[in-house]
Amino acid sequence: AKEPARVLVTGAAGQIGYALVPMIARGVMLGADQPVILHLLDIPPAVEALNGVKMELIDAAFPLLKGVVATTDVVEACTGVNIAVMVGGFPRKEGMERKDVMSKNVSIYKSQASALEKHAAANCKVLVVANPANTNALILKEFAPSIPEKNITCLTRLDHNRALGQVSERLNVQVSDVKNVIIWGNHSSSQYPDVNHATVKTPSGDKSVRELVADDAWLNGEFIATVQQRGAAIIKARKFSSALSAASSACDHIRDWVLGTPEGTWVSMGVYSDGSYNVPAGLIFSFPVTCCNGDWKIVQGLSIDEFSRKKLDATADELTEEKTLAYTCIN
Ligand code: NAI
Repeated sequence: AKEPARVLVTGAAGQIGYALVPMIARGVMLGADQPVILHLLDIPPAVEALNGVKMELIDAAFPLLKGVVATTDVVEACTGVNIAVMVGGFPRKEGMERKDVMSKNVSIYKSQASALEKHAAANCKVLVVANPANTNALILKEFAPSIPEKNITCLTRLDHNRALGQVSERLNVQVSDVKNVIIWGNHSSSQYPDVNHATVKTPSGDKSVRELVADDAWLNGEFIATVQQRGAAIIKARKFSSALSAASSACDHIRDWVLGTPEGTWVSMGVYSDGSYNVPAGLIFSFPVTCCNGDWKIVQGLSIDEFSRKKLDATADELTEEKTLAYTCIN
């Protein structure tokens, strides 16, 4: 039998946490043959709710779940973890300046970076979900210099999955038959959902999404806006932000990273830019990646037309600006 993997979820008493931990305990993230020990971190005001989540995990009697550590102590939470899913953060509240929210999250991610660096298992893989996700991941990377930069990522898989969903609805095809959309850039409304390389599996072979949709106005306009604004649409409808879809996409992100992407398929992940596609190096930027043996690789050589270039540059500019703002918050 496999040794249990230790999986940290921060912000575990929150909405996404509540949807995510049962998925992990059922093997959705790491596979149905991989036992897990869950490490749940939240802050003291949420400690009762956190303990309630632990009680429910026990009550669900998950066969793969070999233990639950529920704590408000960041060192205890990080000790020995193989996977860290960072969902905890400071939310933007009405009337708050962007800089104030950034400042709160910079200090959270700075201290959690140090704890992970000192106490996580060697080769721990980190996924930052909490917003501003790309920049929180960048801060985490900067303050955990001994964690390899390839091990620090942020979640844009939800946006990727949303794009697959929109194409599948529009063409009335199975979502599992659509692949190779791309989310470029920031997990924000400046992201660029790109279908130029996306395909649909049909009885007569793979066909290009652009040809099948045959409506460039929709693809270049409403489709992009819908994916960019989907988070806001969910808040409007549900009065809470996306949780089940965020949790499910976080599982997809880690599962593909650890177990590999299928041949011929790529996914979107926020990773440390090496300058590919003329994206400034040193940003955490969402790229198309393939994964094999626990490592991701940016898909190279895709053609970028003028329309796409502008959109990539705009989201890169926003991330550069966020990075600058974050650095002014470091003390
Ligand atoms: P939530 O407010 O329900 O839960 C957040 C939890 O984090 C709370 O329990 C809070 O007590 C905890 N927390 C705050 N500071 C903490 C700290 N220093 N250490 C540990 N825990 C801490 O929020 P929800 O809906 O679960 O969303 C979580 C984050 O995920 C938000 O930042 C949200 O914007 C982001 N998000 C990101 C998505 C993505 O695709 N990247 C999609 C949806 C949400």
